[in-house]
Amino acid sequence: MRKPLQSIVVLTGAGISAESGIQTFRAADGLWENHRVDEVATPEGFERNPPLVYEFYNQRRRQILSPEIRPNPAHSALAKFEHDFLGNFVLITQNIDNLHERAGSKKLLHMHGEILKMRCLNSKLVFDIREDLVFETECRCCRSPGNLRPHIVWFGEMPLHMHEINLALKGCDLFVAIGTSGNVYPASGFYQSAKIARAHTVELNLEVTGSGFDEHVYGKASEIVPAFFEGILSSSG
Ligand code: OAD
Repeated sequence: MRKPLQSIVVLTGAGISAESGIQTFRAADGLWENHRVDEVATPEGFERNPPLVYEFYNQRRRQILSPEIRPNPAHSALAKFEHDFLGNFVLITQNIDNLHERAGSKKLLHMHGEILKMRCLNSKLVFDIREDLVFETECRCCRSPGNLRPHIVWFGEMPLHMHEINLALKGCDLFVAIGTSGNVYPASGFYQSAKIARAHTVELNLEVTGSGFDEHVYGKASEIVPAFFEGILSSSG
């Protein structure tokens, strides 16, 4: 008989938010919402053209705050699972949107930052923001303009919460990746760390990503995620 699951780590990517109306990153045109990634998602891009970068994330923030963007059944299923599952559960997301927390997820690690936060370049303090961020926006700690940047992990920067993530991966017995293409390091290697810990690894995605998970489930996140996690709850009694 299989041992009951005690510790589960879930990694989500843009695919879980696609049915909520947020475009994934690697659409066929290779652009992120019509922009080249090096223009809007690198420290060099920000140094070259801060107004463009501010405006790009202002648009992303307005989109997240618009009434038509809402959590879908996949976000809700993970929040319900966190509540109902009796073992350890850690949810890691690469997404900068707030749809997991809006669905009710509590134990959540935003490894690539959050669109509704900004950071002081001097003190590194992080603040909530809902309005547009421009050069003139005064920093809440140093009270000067020009000291704020989006709290987003750009290419070439270290993702957040890596210590906690590595500990969770070392101790898990099931690792599930949902709606991520596996193109961006280090998240792309999490399933390997989980395998080293002898965890069972599962990919839930619309299509094959070509990576070496033990099990694959293909379909829309809004359908396969609720079914998969309800299945775990019913088999663990
Ligand atoms: P990608 O856009 O690279 O991949 C999205 C994945 O979701 C693909 O494998 C799709 O097949 C899958 N997908 C799309 N719609 C789906 C649906 N309805 N149900 C299930 N799966 C679906 O996005 P990520 O892997 O998240 O970094 O990208 C990783 C990182 O690259 C992002 O966090 C971002 C980007 O650069 C930063 O912003 C720092």
